[in-house]
Amino acid sequence: MAQVNQNYLKLKDGYLFQEISRRVRLFQEANPQCNIIHMGIGDVTLPLTPKVIESFQKGVNEMGDITTFKGYGPNFGYEFLRNAIKENDYTKRFAHVEVDEIFITDGAKCDTGNILEIFGMNNKIAISDPIYPVYIDSTVMSGRTGVCNENGYYENIVYMPCTEENSFLPIIPNEIIDIVFLCFPNNPTGVTANQAYLQKWVDYAIENNVVILYDSAYEAYISESNIPHSIYEIKNARKVAIEFRSFSKTAGFTGTRCAYTVVPKELLVTDETGKKFALHTFWTRRQATKFNGVSYPVQRAAAAVYTIEGQKEIKEMIAYYMDNAKILKATMEKLGFKVYGGINAPYIWVKTKNNQKSWDFFDFLLKKQNIVCIPGFGFGPAGEGFVRFSSFAKRENVLQAVERLNQTNFI
Ligand code: MLT
Repeated sequence: MAQVNQNYLKLKDGYLFQEISRRVRLFQEANPQCNIIHMGIGDVTLPLTPKVIESFQKGVNEMGDITTFKGYGPNFGYEFLRNAIKENDYTKRFAHVEVDEIFITDGAKCDTGNILEIFGMNNKIAISDPIYPVYIDSTVMSGRTGVCNENGYYENIVYMPCTEENSFLPIIPNEIIDIVFLCFPNNPTGVTANQAYLQKWVDYAIENNVVILYDSAYEAYISESNIPHSIYEIKNARKVAIEFRSFSKTAGFTGTRCAYTVVPKELLVTDETGKKFALHTFWTRRQATKFNGVSYPVQRAAAAVYTIEGQKEIKEMIAYYMDNAKILKATMEKLGFKVYGGINAPYIWVKTKNNQKSWDFFDFLLKKQNIVCIPGFGFGPAGEGFVRFSSFAKRENVLQAVERLNQTNFI
């Protein structure tokens, strides 16, 4: 009889956002009259912008015309999109990335999970706590961990606690590691990293042969001018870092699906004998075998993001969400909560009062005011005592939530 991948048996609970949906659905079924406001999963609510839709539709029309129809596209993405990414996301920011180092894919979530396939099984992986749960779950699924202990920590992962004391910035571990996941602007804390901080990580990675897996899915939300948007703005990062980006939050593509991963050719790793290999070759091989690319109309839609009109439109969209973040942050602060994030990221990270457990806060807010947030513990044990609010809701819902929050007697 076939056997399961037993690593899946080590996973605790369901995937965080699925678990939240399950609990919210049960509550809604039991209370159909309640009008629930969703500020849990970071899912966008504004429609695709006019320029993006125009380009999307043109792409669809081309697929219906025998003279412009396309079958399989290039595995790694159409040149028109890769060129636009190189020019706008990197060259304009003085970061060096080659077109053939950009791999167009259907999501940063998939890529941050799939990337582990091209690394040896003995690599020691360091991950922030709390963090976007995909990094931990994918590491467990890949068989690189032991079991989860009663405190919520898996054996063989090096956890980097992100707390108020270290401004939620992971500290370089003392023990030897081979791979580190970094995410800035951070999900869930909403904090971000400056040039000097990132340079320390890159220097450390070079000295210690560590690969940085850098998730910058929220870079478009950076509002402070001195904050790097890409790890490649940091000197020598090409030698040690892979970067993940997405159009999901940048341009409202959560339901449309388009993202990209950059693997620089200079990034080398070794086999057991010490022989060096370029990771670029391995990711190229992996994608060529297992991925058939993103559909042509979607790539056309993504390319429109880089036009003058497209840029103007997505900036307005981002400003709308960031105004939501400001409103939520101000409200929670007025109610006496300590609030982080919301300046360079669409998430606010709120400290509960009197050490209230994050799942208790979640339950209380859902039942009492029909508002969904995400309990910090779901992002890792060090997230206990915090909850995350997403600012991707519609403005009228944010204002309605503010009214409800103002009427709430928090413990
Ligand atoms: C989140 O809420 O953290 C994100 O929306 C989840 C995701 O991007 O997969």
